[in-house]
Amino acid sequence: MVLVYKMSTKSLWLLFIFIGSSYSETYSEELFIKPLATGYVYSFFQFTVIREDDSFKHSTLFPHSLGDIIDRFHVAELNVDLTSGLWKHKSWGYPAVDAPSGAEISARFHNDTQDVDKHWYGLTNALSGLLCTSLNFINSANSYESSADRVYRYSNLPRENVCTENLTPWKKLLPCDSTRGLSSLLNSGRVHNANYHSLGIHFRPLCNAGKCKYELRQTVSLVYDSIFISFNNNYDWSLRKMFGTGLFKTCPLADYSKIYLDTSSNSSVPYLISQEPDYVLKNNIAVYNLNGIFHLSAIVPRPKIVVSELRPLLYTDRFITGFGQEYGGLVTRIYNDHKSPIIATVIENIPWFLPIYYHTLKVTSNGIRIIPKALIYKPGKGRVRIYYLEIVLELAPRSVTEISVQFDYVFLKWQEYPPDANHGFYIGSAIVKATIPRNATSLTFDKSLIIDNLNSTGDDYLICLKTENFIITLPTPDFSMPYNVICLACTVVALAFGPIHNITTKRLKLTTAKYVPGLASVAQKLYVLMETIFMLKSKKTGKPTPVKVFTPEELSYHPTLGHVSEEFMKNKGN
Ligand SMILES: *[C@@H]1O[C@H](CO)[C@@H](O)[C@H](O)[C@H]1NC(C)=O
Ligand SMILES: *[C@@H]1O[C@H](CO)[C@@H](O)[C@H](O)[C@H]1NC(C)=O
Ligand SMILES: *[C@@H]1O[C@H](CO)[C@@H](O)[C@H](O)[C@H]1NC(C)=O
Ligand SMILES: *[C@@H]1O[C@H](CO)[C@@H](O)[C@H](O)[C@H]1NC(C)=O
Repeated sequence: MVLVYKMSTKSLWLLFIFIGSSYSETYSEELFIKPLATGYVYSFFQFTVIREDDSFKHSTLFPHSLGDIIDRFHVAELNVDLTSGLWKHKSWGYPAVDAPSGAEISARFHNDTQDVDKHWYGLTNALSGLLCTSLNFINSANSYESSADRVYRYSNLPRENVCTENLTPWKKLLPCDSTRGLSSLLNSGRVHNANYHSLGIHFRPLCNAGKCKYELRQTVSLVYDSIFISFNNNYDWSLRKMFGTGLFKTCPLADYSKIYLDTSSNSSVPYLISQEPDYVLKNNIAVYNLNGIFHLSAIVPRPKIVVSELRPLLYTDRFITGFGQEYGGLVTRIYNDHKSPIIATVIENIPWFLPIYYHTLKVTSNGIRIIPKALIYKPGKGRVRIYYLEIVLELAPRSVTEISVQFDYVFLKWQEYPPDANHGFYIGSAIVKATIPRNATSLTFDKSLIIDNLNSTGDDYLICLKTENFIITLPTPDFSMPYNVICLACTVVALAFGPIHNITTKRLKLTTAKYVPGLASVAQKLYVLMETIFMLKSKKTGKPTPVKVFTPEELSYHPTLGHVSEEFMKNKGN
C-alpha cells in the first residue's frame, strides 16, 4: 500500500518535472549604473523572465499570482509603474523607463475581449491587491481608452505614494525574492531614500512571424545624489553607499547576472573604479559577470564640478498660467533640439474637474501659430469622463512648440474634496510620444535585455516622455467652519447651563440670619483678631495723612474749578 502510494507520488513529481521542462523559461538579472551630470548616479535594475507560451498555470519562474491575473482578465500587455520623484530629462537624459510621479497603469487586452471596461476594472482591482496600491481608485473618470485601439486602457493616479508596502509585494514576484542576487540590494530604507525611485512591472508579447514569446520585466530605477550618500562631501559612490550592502550571492535560478557601468561621463569628470570589468562594450560600457561576492566603488578625484551633459533631443515642460481661482491656462512645451523635424503625438489627460475651453486651444511653434497634423478631442463630462486631447504635431527643427488651452476652476461637491482639501488637486502628466533616430540617444531600452539594448542597431527609437505633474487649488469651502461653529455653540451652552440649571432647580426663600455658634463663630473671632493685628501694624508704621474735609463756608469760588479751599486760592495767588 505504502509502496504504491510512494510510486504514485514519484510519478506525479516526474510528471510535474516533465510539464515544467516542456515550457522553457529564462530568467536574467541585470543592473545598469550610469553616473549622471551634477553628481547623481542612476541605477536601473531589470529582472526579466521570458517564457514561450502563455498558459501561466504551470510556471517555475514566472510569478503565479501575476500569471493568474493576466490569464483571468485576458491581458495581452501590461505596464504598471509606481514612482516617487521627478525625472529631469533636461539634465539626466532619458531613463530606461519613463514614468510620471505617482502610479501609472496601462493595459492592452486581447482583441476578442467583449467587455473591455469590466476586465479593466477587474485588472486594476486585482493589481491593487497584489501590489498594495490604490489602483482600485481607477474608474471611468480617471482612465481613458486610446483613440485608435479599442482594447487599450490607460490611467494615472498622480497622488499615489510609493512606499515599502509596495516594494515588498513587488519583490515577492521575483524568483529569488530578495534573499539572493541583485534584488538583495533593494532594501526599503535605501530605495525610498533615493531622489527618484520607480518600481515597474512590464509584460508584453514578443511576436515574430506568428510565433510569440512572453516577456515580463520587473524594473527599478533609482537616482541617488552621490554628495548625499558619500558622507565626505564628494562624488564618490559605491554599491554599499547606495544600497547599504554589497553583493554576496547570485541567484542560482538566473541564466545570467550582469552589471553594466556606463563610463561615458568619464570624459568630462574622470573617476576610478575599484574593479576591472570583464569586458567593455562599445568603448564605454564596462560589463561585469556576477558569480559570487562582488563589490564596486568609484572614486572621483576631482572636487565637484557641474558638468552639463548633452541635452536630449526632445524634452518637455508643463505649467499652469493665470492667477486667482476663476480661470487658468495649461501650457505644454515641447523642445526639439534636433536638426530635422520630428513627428510627435501629445496626449493631454485632463480630469473632469478642470473643464477646458476647446476654442482656446492654441498651438504655436517658435511663437507662430501652426495647425496640427491631426487632432482628436473628446470632451469630458462631470464625474464621468476626462477631457481627452490627442494632438499629432510636426516639430520643426530646433524649435519650441507650445500647446496652450484655458480652463475653469470648478467648485466641487463637499464630499468630493480629499482629506486635507487645502493641499490641492494633483493633475497627472501629459504624454509625448515620438520616434527619434536611434543614434540620437546614447542608450535605448526597447529590447528584452539590457545587453541587447546596448548592442542594438536600427533606425528608429520610440520614446515616450511623461511631463511633470502639478497641483492646483480649486476653490475650497471653509471646512473648519462647522468645527468652529460646534466649538462656539458648545461653549455657549456650557456657560449657560450653570445659571439656567440653578434658576430652574432652586427655589428662592426668605430667611432671617441667625448667630450660629461653632466653626463660623471661631472664624469670625479669628477675623477680628487679624483685623486688630493689622490695625496695630498700620499704627506702628505711621498714620496715613488725614484728609481734611472742608465745610461749605470754608470754600471760596474759582471761575473754572468751582468751589476750592482758601488755602488753594492763596497758593494760586503766589
Ligand atoms: C489586435 O488588433 C491590432 C489592431 O487591429 C493588431 O495590430 C494586432 O495584431 C491584433 N492582435 C491580435 C493578437 O490579433
Ligand atoms: C577614466 O579615464 C581615466 C583616464 O582618463 C582612466 O584612467 C580611468 O580608468 C577611466 N575610468 C573608467 C571608469 O573608465
Ligand atoms: C545618425 O545616423 C544618421 C544616418 O543614419 C547619420 O546621418 C547621423 O550623422 C548619425 N548621427 C550621429 C550622432 O551619429
Ligand atoms: C555586439 O555587436 C558586435 C558587433 O556588432 C558583436 O561582435 C558582439 O558580439 C555583440 N555583443 C553582444 C553581447 O551581442
